[in-house]
Amino acid sequence: MKNYLVTGGAGFIGTNFIRHALAIRSDWYIVNLDALTYAGNPANLENLESGIAERYRFIRGDIRDASLLDSLFLEYNFDGVIHFAAESHVDRSIHGPEDFVETNVIGTFRLLEACRKLQQDKKMPDGFRFLHISTDEVYGSLGPEGYFTEQTPYDPSSPYSASKSSADHFVKAYFRTYGLPTLVTNCSNNYGPYQFPEKLIPLIILNIVEEKPLPIYGDGKNIRDWLYVIDHCDALITILEKGVPGETYNIGGGAERENIEIVHLLCDLVDDRLGHSDRESSRRLIKFVTDRPGHDRRYAIDATKIQTELNWIPGYSFEEALESTVDWFLNNMKWIDSVRSGNYRKWIEQNYQHR
Ligand code: NAD
Ligand code: DAU
Repeated sequence: MKNYLVTGGAGFIGTNFIRHALAIRSDWYIVNLDALTYAGNPANLENLESGIAERYRFIRGDIRDASLLDSLFLEYNFDGVIHFAAESHVDRSIHGPEDFVETNVIGTFRLLEACRKLQQDKKMPDGFRFLHISTDEVYGSLGPEGYFTEQTPYDPSSPYSASKSSADHFVKAYFRTYGLPTLVTNCSNNYGPYQFPEKLIPLIILNIVEEKPLPIYGDGKNIRDWLYVIDHCDALITILEKGVPGETYNIGGGAERENIEIVHLLCDLVDDRLGHSDRESSRRLIKFVTDRPGHDRRYAIDATKIQTELNWIPGYSFEEALESTVDWFLNNMKWIDSVRSGNYRKWIEQNYQHR
């Protein structure tokens, strides 16, 4: 068996990763360490099938808690850390940046320190890997041409991307200085089941269902490069197993779309599911609102390195995976109600009241 520590596994990508990894790797045991902030929901992983559930354990705790980390490393003798835990929402980082420094920078530093201690005490298993999941936002904004490569200089625009950039630098420094076997991934925008409804795709789906305005920042022509979450998880397993320590890998979907195109597509898909006529098209709900400060114009990944060196390409087409995401949300309204707490409603009011 291989034992892995997954941090932030009760969030969107972590949940999908744990489900996917336990299903396709029958020799993995996963400990999920998650503080359960507003974005974490342990119920996401409560109904695991038998044969899988036995290889999973949830621990509520904070990645900044050094003594908890030491005791977990001692107890489980992990073969690696797969580090998702973060504050992940750009708009929240604009309203309150401190939590981003605390979790994304200090939290990552504490995890690295726990690993360094293992190494110093000669308790690190052979083949150990520290897989740090980061974002393409560290590279800043692109104009209409060009792509982010692993050599693109960091140029973060938001407190979120600044905190992720800082964390990436620490991870890379621990490889260079201490020889810690680290891997860094910088991925584009994910979508799929279990995404918290503060992010564009689930927010728009739910607002369509509830006939609320569909807020589009600025002129709606900002571009994101969309990747289905299961493809991201699959790429992470490939990198964990085949990646070269000290290296960075960009992960992208090759599906660049303007925000307005995404919103149009979602209106049409949901209208189709709900049997709306052309006259009732949800496109009428679109509302252009004040832009996000520091809003990056375009992200686009050059994924040549992961394709050529690790032989990985995405398996899902954007159109099909977006349809199945819409269906997942429409069929899981109970899950949505459970994550939309009072805290969520307060956030929506705060973010959108002046736009
Ligand atoms: P998310 O916000 O849905 O989940 C984050 C999880 O981390 C939550 O379960 C939360 O409870 C947990 N967490 C937060 N602070 C913690 C702490 N101090 N200690 C322990 N747990 C804590 O985020 P996500 O969208 O699943 O993103 C996961 C990772 O992937 C992040 O590092 C993010 O930067 C990166 N990423 C996300 C995307 C995307 O499109 N969502 C794209 C590229 C990279
Ligand atoms: O690129 C990877 C990043 O993708 C991850 O690192 C982040 O964790 C993740 O949140 C995501 O960041 P974005 O800011 O790109 O995602 P978000 O869903 O918040 O917004 C997507 C685009 O839609 C962006 O251009 C802003 C716009 N938007 C968003 C919201 C919430 C709107 O126009 N209206 C909205 O209400």
